Amino acid sequence: MLTQNLPEFWDNLYAEGKDYWNFKKATPALLEFFKHPSCPAEGSVLIPGAGFGYDAEAWAMRGHEVLAVDFAPTAVDELDHLSRKHKNLHSLDKDLFTLTPKDSKHEGQLFDIVYDYGTFSAIHPGRRDEFFEVCYKMLKDDGLFICLVYPLMNGKSLQGPPHCTSEGELFPGREGKEEFWLMKKVV
Ligand SMILES: C[S@@+](CC[C@H](N)C(=O)[O-])C[C@H]1O[C@@H](n2cnc3c(N)ncnc32)[C@H](O)[C@@H]1O
Repeated sequence: MLTQNLPEFWDNLYAEGKDYWNFKKATPALLEFFKHPSCPAEGSVLIPGAGFGYDAEAWAMRGHEVLAVDFAPTAVDELDHLSRKHKNLHSLDKDLFTLTPKDSKHEGQLFDIVYDYGTFSAIHPGRRDEFFEVCYKMLKDDGLFICLVYPLMNGKSLQGPPHCTSEGELFPGREGKEEFWLMKKVV
């Protein structure tokens, strides 16, 4: 059975046009956040589960060195395409749960920022601690975890992409269903 732990699960959603979370442009809340004083002006950015990379591109165009990670072939193709357009945007075809700062050349580094939009709510809820552990591990000691949590359903019914979006209740507005988390690493 296909589960969200497998790249094929995500590739099917992309192939069937069921990527309802996909704005097909940079996330508006992120662009707003760029203008906010608490948004770091510089620093390397890791994006686990980067999808088609619109947000990765937005960070890159702001001048950050970006590593965009995904394991769904359709998404990786898009990220590869973007990486050819922006020399400071790198794509990595990898299961985010296997990211390690001690490994091969691409992810063998620590980041100033880990940014997520939608991946926290896309992974299996039973893996959320693991997700945070990976993000923590990949951050420099004074690094920032920036998480735009979506959808925020306050336990009402839905867990997150893709499940939530199948009910068609998230568009056009996402008002009240998003929250920005900005967390500084404590060692
Ligand atoms: C809900 S989408 C969000 C995509 C992107 N952040 C955006 O805003 O459009 C989740 C993405 O995470 C990827 N993903 C899910 N689990 C993953 C894993 N274990 N390793 C790498 N990518 C993963 C999926 O392939 C998908 O592209």
